[in-house]
Amino acid sequence: MSPFPVIAIDGPTASGKGTVASLVAEKLGFHYLDSGALYRLVALASEKRGIDVKNGHELGLLVPKLLISFKNSQVLLDGEDVTEAIRTENIGLRASTLAVHPELRSALVCLQRSFCQSPGLVADGRDMASIIFPDAVLKVFLTATAAARAERRYKQLIAKGISAKLSDLLQDLQERDVRDSSRGTAPLLIADGAKVLETSDLSIDQAVKTVLDWYQSEIL
Ligand code: C5P
Repeated sequence: MSPFPVIAIDGPTASGKGTVASLVAEKLGFHYLDSGALYRLVALASEKRGIDVKNGHELGLLVPKLLISFKNSQVLLDGEDVTEAIRTENIGLRASTLAVHPELRSALVCLQRSFCQSPGLVADGRDMASIIFPDAVLKVFLTATAAARAERRYKQLIAKGISAKLSDLLQDLQERDVRDSSRGTAPLLIADGAKVLETSDLSIDQAVKTVLDWYQSEIL
């Protein structure tokens, strides 16, 4: 049982769940867990140490050795600021490749649950509602069409001055969707009891408001 209320927000790559989840957390004064960042941290750390993405056993053993901390919007790995380094497309792809291993997924369970602290938690990822916080007060499956998601990702990259090709981004996220949805362990799915939020035609504010309204009606 989670000791404090949890809002679990799952969804595919670039669905906007990170933005929505962190804003919902801010409005409620709750903690925020970006579980994808943990998979990205393992991707980066394992690349640096030369661990093969196919070696689930070694990847699982790596987790307790990592010193991970989130400070405001900064992500630190073994004391080094890796906020930008974990956001590259290459690390995202590597994270999605190694996330198939049950040994790695179970090594990350306790770490993810440790984020559930007073007064509550908003957690985003792929298996927050199904595996990590099955007793979440509110479960949301946040999604958007692949085209809308690729366009959002494209605009984010261009705004950061990073060149990108829309067709490559679309193909990349479709491949990641297939991998995340078809893996044997903790596939991306709409958990039992989850409410689906289709955001292709919603602004961020509208999506945040919908989640907050759903939460209020759950706790009434
Ligand atoms: O959410 P984000 O794109 O940062 O996650 C990177 C990758 O980590 C995803 O493509 C997915 O394969 C994996 N992941 C996962 N389970 C989670 C969060 C992320 O398998 N709870």
